[in-house]
Amino acid sequence: MADIDKKLEGNVEGDFFVDSTCQNMDICRQIAPENFTYWQDYAVVSKQPEGAKETRQALQAVLCCPYGSIGTSNKTGLAETMQDFPIQIENEVYFCGFNSPKTSGGNSYFIQHKGGNWLVTAPKFQAQLVKKLESMGGVAYIFLSHRDDAGDAEKFAQHFKAKRIIHRHELEAQPHAEEVLKETEIYDFQPEFTVVPSPGHTEGHMMLIYKNKFLFSGDSLYYDRKETRLEIWNPLWTWYSFEEQIMSMEKLLSREFEWLLPAHGQRVHLEKSQMKQQLQDAIDRAWQLPDPEAASAPRVQILEQYAEELRAGKQPEYAKLIQAKADWLRTLIQ
Ligand SMILES: [Fe+2]
Repeated sequence: MADIDKKLEGNVEGDFFVDSTCQNMDICRQIAPENFTYWQDYAVVSKQPEGAKETRQALQAVLCCPYGSIGTSNKTGLAETMQDFPIQIENEVYFCGFNSPKTSGGNSYFIQHKGGNWLVTAPKFQAQLVKKLESMGGVAYIFLSHRDDAGDAEKFAQHFKAKRIIHRHELEAQPHAEEVLKETEIYDFQPEFTVVPSPGHTEGHMMLIYKNKFLFSGDSLYYDRKETRLEIWNPLWTWYSFEEQIMSMEKLLSREFEWLLPAHGQRVHLEKSQMKQQLQDAIDRAWQLPDPEAASAPRVQILEQYAEELRAGKQPEYAKLIQAKADWLRTLIQ
């Protein structure tokens, strides 16, 4: 729970507040857009919640903040709100909540399916959520789009005897994964579940399309709510190759979907034709970027920070690769 002594100045007065442990991962703004906004490099409370709906959403945001950076005195409300998760998005597709600091707050999703339920990205292994997933039939598959999304996947796999699906290039993050994919082209893993290998953010990044309707995009594509358009993730946070990232998005143009459900970033529901047009536009803008791999101090800093996280997360091989990239870029700007 947040610390009132660390309360950010940008908050409006009132019960809910964000403290300086906030890492600006955006989840509160996605869940309770009426009450949270941007302030410097943080999120803050822009308006105290009014009425039952806003209060409930603000409480959900407290529970989903991966760093426990949001404070409130409403303990009874928090206990009740735990029961909301997973929250239905549409039909059998849910948002899990309880975003984990181990995935830098990645959004995770649950698909209730007759052939076995799926978890996409690992949330916190949180007792209330685990119990709820048990009551909904457990988990048979855990789809990990890439190494950053693994978090507590091993705990979920052991508890539910589920199969973790990950690409071989990402295996260092989950060395004991049960289902290791080698594919480089789009293919049907099972009826209704299409895997889209999408190197770019990382070499073994993959997306998942369910029923030609729901795209789980990992860290490759999100909805920019300021510009009201689809966007490919910034080159600064592309660990492998931005050029390949764009080419992966071009492959995606051959498929249809109407829900974009990212690990990091805003989700959106659009008509299929509109989604395709916005994807094409995002690709066109990306190709026009001036040398996205160019050396810059911020890029070096982000890569070094990521290398440190990988070392702490016991991924020494990838940490070496990222560190080497940071070192090389630093020589170019000196
Ligand atoms: Fe990532």
